[in-house]
Amino acid sequence: MGRLANKVAIITGAGGGQGKAEALLFAKEGAKVVVTDVQEEKVKLVVEEIIQNGGEAIGFFHDVSSEDKWIQVVKDTVEKFGKVDILVNNAGITIQKSLHETSVAEWNKVMDINLTGAFLGMKHVIPVMMENHGGSIINISSIAGLTGGSGASPYTASKGALRLLTKATAIDYAKHSIRCNSVHPGYIETPMTKDMFTNEQMMTWFKSNTPLPYLGKPEDIANGVLYLASDESKFVTGIELPIEGGYSAV
Ligand SMILES: NC(=O)c1ccc[n+]([C@@H]2O[C@H](COP(=O)([O-])OP(=O)(O)OC[C@H]3O[C@@H](n4cnc5c(N)ncnc54)[C@H](O)[C@@H]3O)[C@@H](O)[C@H]2O)c1
Repeated sequence: MGRLANKVAIITGAGGGQGKAEALLFAKEGAKVVVTDVQEEKVKLVVEEIIQNGGEAIGFFHDVSSEDKWIQVVKDTVEKFGKVDILVNNAGITIQKSLHETSVAEWNKVMDINLTGAFLGMKHVIPVMMENHGGSIINISSIAGLTGGSGASPYTASKGALRLLTKATAIDYAKHSIRCNSVHPGYIETPMTKDMFTNEQMMTWFKSNTPLPYLGKPEDIANGVLYLASDESKFVTGIELPIEGGYSAV
C-alpha cells in the first residue's frame, strides 16, 4: 500500500486487459488514476471499481491517435488533480496479416495508435511534468519490439520504434527529472490475444520457445509497470523491461 501515494497517473487503453490491471493496482497503491480508452462503457466500469474499492479515479473517452483528445485529457486531468506524475502509454492494437497483404490504411492505423498515440501523450504530458519538476513515463512495447515478430509487420515496426522513442525521450528529459522506460510483455492473456491462444500450432510453438512456458497475466505486467512508475525506480531511465517468461533470453 502507498507506493504511489499522492501521484496522479494517466493510463491509456485502460478499459480492459493490462491497462485495467495497472489502473486497479495503481489505485490500490494510492495513485489518483485517469482511466482512458475508446471503450467508454469499460472505462466507466473500471472507474466504478476503483471508487468502490476506496480509490480515486476519473475516466475519459479518449482515442490516443487524436491530438485534440490528448490536449483535452491532459487539461481535464490538471483541472481535476492539479498535475500529472505518471503516464502509461498502454493503448495498442494489432493486425495479423502478411506484409504484402497489409494496406496502407491498415499500416497507418496501427502506427497512429501504437506509435503516434504514445508520441502525442508524451508531447502533451511532458510540459506538465516539467512544471512539476519530474515524472515517470512508461511505454508499453512488446517482445515484438525486441526480437521481431511474425505475421504483424506494422505492429512489430510500431513497437520497435516505440522502444527507441523511449530511449530518446529518456536522454532528452533526464535533466527535468522525467524518466521514460519501455515494458515488453510476452504472451499475456487479454482480449488482444484470445484468438491466438485457441490456435494449437501457435501454442506448441510458444511453449517450445519460452523458458517459462505459460501465458502471462495482466497483473504480471502491472507489477513491473508499478515499479517503473514509483520512486523505487528513481535511478532507472531508458531501459527496456521484458516481462515474458524468458522469451528474449533464448
Ligand atoms: N496481450 C499480449 O500478449 C501483449 C503482448 C505484448 C504487448 N502487448 C501490448 O500491451 C498493451 C495492452 O494490450 P492488452 O494485451 O491489454 O490488449 P487489450 O486489447 O485488452 O487492450 C488494449 C486496449 O487499448 C484500447 N484501444 C484500442 N485502440 C485505442 C485507441 N485508438 N485509443 C485508446 N485506446 C485504444 C482498447 O479498447 C483496449 O482496451 C498494448 O499496447 C499491446 O500491444 C500485449
